[in-house]
Amino acid sequence: MGSTRARTPKNFVLDERLERYRDAIEYLPASFAGRWAEACWPLGADGGDRFREVRLDLGCGKGSFLVAAALAEPDVLFIGVDVQPVCIAYAAQRIVESGVRNALVVPGNGERLAHMFAAGELSAITLNFPTPHPRKREAHERLTTVDNLLSFRPLLAADGTLTLRTDSEPLYDYSRPQFEAAGYRARWTSNDTRAEHPDIPWSEYEERLAEQGARVHGICAELGGAPYDEQVEAGRERMLDSLYDYIPEDLYEGTYIPHGMDFAIRNFRNRARNAEMRAKRAGR
Ligand SMILES: C[S@@+](CC[C@H](N)C(=O)[O-])C[C@H]1O[C@@H](n2cnc3c(N)ncnc32)[C@H](O)[C@@H]1O
Repeated sequence: MGSTRARTPKNFVLDERLERYRDAIEYLPASFAGRWAEACWPLGADGGDRFREVRLDLGCGKGSFLVAAALAEPDVLFIGVDVQPVCIAYAAQRIVESGVRNALVVPGNGERLAHMFAAGELSAITLNFPTPHPRKREAHERLTTVDNLLSFRPLLAADGTLTLRTDSEPLYDYSRPQFEAAGYRARWTSNDTRAEHPDIPWSEYEERLAEQGARVHGICAELGGAPYDEQVEAGRERMLDSLYDYIPEDLYEGTYIPHGMDFAIRNFRNRARNAEMRAKRAGR
């Protein structure tokens, strides 16, 4: 989002951090595919021999959602995946310092999850404030393209859910038809998830953006039947849309501008004002 690079303090040494919080990081996820729930059950823990469910927080960032979710449901295993090693280091630190035994992080790319999890292994995937990649040229990197959403389908249990939450109305408006094209059925959609689903743990981005006046849009979807080819094709036709095509006509005048869109919106506003002035001059 704008810059998604996590800022680090001056004395932050990545390798040293990754080593220090190594216990909460899994570097060989393929070896756990199909057996996360049993393999990660803590030795000597009471009440069973496996976790009740395995849930994935994709693009987990610094891990506040992950740890809060893990604290709330100790019998569920929460796995965070993130491409940025710095985020992995911070999230691992948070896990270790919180003392939770049901969360871990995996460095990796959400576009390539098939080697990490077996079919039907995940009861939920959450996409909290995924990087919106507003420009057309980077659109294929959005985690909510129909192609990425299709790739998540086999990993979800039959009653599993995929939840997107974002401050970006353009990303939300872009993503809903992509969910449909990939054969997901909405359980709920919301233009204010904090008000309507108050039990969802906060993520770092939600905390930060809520302070700036963001409202959070969300979709929680379940698997519908496998999509028809025409349905998928309809999604692919719009898959590489620029998110600038989804900006409202008032250009967010007087309201919250989605994170990372400030520069573009300021440009659009200038262009609109210039066009208006030109039209006035021409009409004179
Ligand atoms: C805007 S941050 C949100 C972090 C966190 N979910 C939150 O809500 O605070 C987006 C995160 O997604 C990660 N990310 C972006 N693309 C990804 C991908 N393809 N696979 C895994 N993580 C990704 C980024 O590294 C970043 O940490």
